[in-house]
Amino acid sequence: MNVREHLLALTDELRRLKGEGSRQVAVSDASLAHLRQAVAHAQREVAALGGASAPAGGEGTAVPASASVQGEVRRYAPAIEEPVVRSAPEVARAPALPPRPPIELPPGTKRERWEALRQIVLNDATCLARVYPGKQVVFGVGNLDTSIMFIGEAPGADEEEQGEPFVGRAGQLLNRMIKAMGLEREQVYIGNILNWRPEMGTRSADGYQTGNRPPTQEEMAYCLPFIRAQIGIIQPKVLVALGKTAVDGLLGPDRFKTMGAARGAWHDYDGIPLRATYHPSYLLRQEGLKSGPALKIKRDAWEDLLAVMERAELPVSEKQRGYFR
Ligand code: URA
Repeated sequence: MNVREHLLALTDELRRLKGEGSRQVAVSDASLAHLRQAVAHAQREVAALGGASAPAGGEGTAVPASASVQGEVRRYAPAIEEPVVRSAPEVARAPALPPRPPIELPPGTKRERWEALRQIVLNDATCLARVYPGKQVVFGVGNLDTSIMFIGEAPGADEEEQGEPFVGRAGQLLNRMIKAMGLEREQVYIGNILNWRPEMGTRSADGYQTGNRPPTQEEMAYCLPFIRAQIGIIQPKVLVALGKTAVDGLLGPDRFKTMGAARGAWHDYDGIPLRATYHPSYLLRQEGLKSGPALKIKRDAWEDLLAVMERAELPVSEKQRGYFR
């Protein structure tokens, strides 16, 4: 992707988050520095092409919402007013998490143990304290006898509203991915690393501010035993880690630097083969983009799913194999 496509993808994602009700997004200092560089680069590009001159102010200054370049109206990232971009340390200031009580499951059938675990998580005082009034702790859903278990990052606005993982836009794409594999959502199991929507800001009399930020290490450490216990009960043939947070949570935070390094091979999670692939939210950002890198990302994700189908011993048709040929 070139700089323009990156900026358009970014603004589309910010619009999506805003549409979902987010008022802030967490951005690490490193990402903020990259963003500033990209904006400065775009400004130089406009200036070099003889379009609107780059506004004074240097790095970080908002670029015009559109700039006429050689007769063509080219859109650049609009001034980022809302959602407010803040650095991650500033927003990750929720009170420290208390130690989690040990998980004790009664003996019984798969469903009985799963239901007992579900009740533990839904009534966990720490999970409940992280959820705002009217919103819900989110536990995994699906077929307990499935061969494939998908694991994402954390609930978003739609998920905390409905109390179910992957029901928003990313969930709709995940449903389409599952369908393309020849399955229905009800035939697989879907869970998350975190059971609550990561808190972004402070609560106030006017309401609260949340947004989608990655979970902190501490939050992940608190919730990981819950998803591990779900895997232990369900014992799927294959695990699919959706995105880097799921990879870090299940395989260890230092194992892979990037998603690119994690995907394309089989890993072992406690004797269960695990495949890492791109998070549906990331894939959504590639939708509509026709550049080589964007197409490769979509093709790679489909290849990951084909590998999962084979490992789970699902039939793979020629049509499915040829989707991206
Ligand atoms: N993204 C996730 O990682 N999980 C969800 O449940 C929804 C969006």
